[in-house]
Amino acid sequence: MLEVKNLRVRFKDAAPDRFAVDGASFSVGDGEIVGLVGESGSGKTVTAMAISGLLPRRKSEYTGEILLDGVELLHGDRNLMRQMQGDTIGVIFQEPMSAFNPIMPMGRQVEESLRVHHPEMSPAARRSAALTAMAEAELDEPEIVYEKYPHELSGGMLQRAMIAAAVIHSPKLLLADEPTTALDVTIQGQILDLIKKINRTKGTSVLFISHNMRIIRHLSERVLVMHRGKIVEEGSVEKIFLHPQEAYTQKLINSIPARDRHLTGLKEKLKGEKS
Ligand SMILES: Nc1ncnc2c1ncn2[C@@H]1O[C@H](COP(=O)(O)OP(=O)(O)OP(=O)(O)O)[C@@H](O)[C@H]1O
Ligand SMILES: [Mg+2]
Repeated sequence: MLEVKNLRVRFKDAAPDRFAVDGASFSVGDGEIVGLVGESGSGKTVTAMAISGLLPRRKSEYTGEILLDGVELLHGDRNLMRQMQGDTIGVIFQEPMSAFNPIMPMGRQVEESLRVHHPEMSPAARRSAALTAMAEAELDEPEIVYEKYPHELSGGMLQRAMIAAAVIHSPKLLLADEPTTALDVTIQGQILDLIKKINRTKGTSVLFISHNMRIIRHLSERVLVMHRGKIVEEGSVEKIFLHPQEAYTQKLINSIPARDRHLTGLKEKLKGEKS
């Protein structure tokens, strides 16, 4: 459903030979959860920006292809691209607080993409869709949360609201860039379980970006390892964690704290998925 071919991105203010993304190629299949992992600065967020149409056109140069359901997005018509992305991709980012307007009630912000992409919908239909999406994101008492302002919600609730805003139009692809990094470990686990549940129940494909190998192992079916703007290794979670081919991948695995590094968790996970 998503195919990225030889993507290269350079920011115009960077050195001429400095590519933020340097020939990355990968795909995400229907209903698949793919983890994109790599150290800070390896190009993960820039890749996500290219897919979601957020690259600043005037400040960056890019080549390659991004195909979404067979439609080329990177060089296509901007309006068509916006429409495709609005309909097909839901985006979740790291900082839920900065993603929301502090002076607008949450419900209106959750419905925002409907207002843009489905102006024909009535306010009552939008509200009802927002309440459904908020319930799907497991926000308790959606009617109450609908009227609240961002500062009245916890970080975990804000992240659930961002997930509600992302899934309100039933996207085929969920693009999640470090969505749990700012949250404490318990809430982190709940948000990961929620993303997994959305994937299982709705068949939504997920491209999940993190520098954290432990989280990638917990969530992904297939893993892409990014280093200096390139995908240097890819494979099933089993292959990547049990039989890494690249020294760089091994280095990332070694960065998992020793108490979490034992692979029993992974083996149980794989067993659970096969049974
Ligand atoms: N708006 C921008 N202008 C110029 N350079 C940028 C811009 N955004 C990112 N870069 C550069 O592109 C490279 C890749 O950055 P990117 O944010 O994609 O890394 P990342 O893998 O997401 O890292 P992290 O794990 O820290 O989020 C870095 O060298 C960064 O400095
Ligand atoms: Mg990033």
